[in-house]
Amino acid sequence: MSANVVVETRERITQIELARIDKKNALTLEMYAGISAALSAAEADPQVRAMLIYGKPDCFTAGNDLKDFLERPLQGERSVTADFLHQIADLRKPLVAAVGGAAVGIGTTMLLHCDLVYAAPNARFQLPFVPLGLVPEAGSSLLLPAIAGYQRAAELLMLGQPFGADKALAAGFVTEIVPEAELIERARGAALALAALPPASVRLTKRLMKAPFARAVGEQIDAELREFKQRLGSPEAKEAMTAFFEKRKPDFSKFS
Ligand code: COA
Repeated sequence: MSANVVVETRERITQIELARIDKKNALTLEMYAGISAALSAAEADPQVRAMLIYGKPDCFTAGNDLKDFLERPLQGERSVTADFLHQIADLRKPLVAAVGGAAVGIGTTMLLHCDLVYAAPNARFQLPFVPLGLVPEAGSSLLLPAIAGYQRAAELLMLGQPFGADKALAAGFVTEIVPEAELIERARGAALALAALPPASVRLTKRLMKAPFARAVGEQIDAELREFKQRLGSPEAKEAMTAFFEKRKPDFSKFS
């Protein structure tokens, strides 16, 4: 369990708070493991009806820890990260997210697997995989075109620039924009509403909506990860990530 992930279960909801605010809630391997353990426990606990994930109202997560990417590259067929991605794709119980501030990389792609997503007007989404010399993950190369349409997804995934809550709402993966001061309570209220409904009906409805695409999503997650692991070792990715920590613009001019 990670000290940077705070888990609490009450009123039939498991709340998962990302709490590494000095690093903008960037996710380390230990944090993925902590979130995974909380989700597994929630899925297994008959008392739990819904899960809620959030950070601070002004920072959801800056995505994968870039130091981990540089120093602890994904190993083998399965990894903590790969297991987490398959887990959020395959959850039986509903997952609600509250997103304010930075929602970078997996901070955006995990939302494609959530059932309800509440975003504050200050939310800054970004899918910076290409600018980082990487490729999309979490099934986003399949899910985002399906949700948003190909050209809208291509803009977000290929240019990889930050975008706001209005654009995320229009793209179709945000349920509602709510004021920053009400964000977490609004999302919690939605989780409570789900928790009050007939639990089997909720789970079956989720399964019926997800089942037609489940196999394709799982296969896409694996296909993306195969490319992603190769890209992590590429000189382009190293230049992009080193430049981030050196607080300078990356220089890709020497690559062919
Ligand atoms: N991995 C590791 N450290 C990160 C990080 C990440 N993904 N994101 C932020 N941090 C660290 C910074 O290095 C900085 O650490 P320092 O105080 O020791 O210098 C601290 O968190 C604060 O970040 P900073 O960039 O100063 O905050 P900001 O408010 O100016 O910008 C972001 C916030 C999220 C826009 C910016 O941090 C960012 O772009 N992060 C990288 C996002 C990314 O590429 N994620 C990977 C996606 S695959």
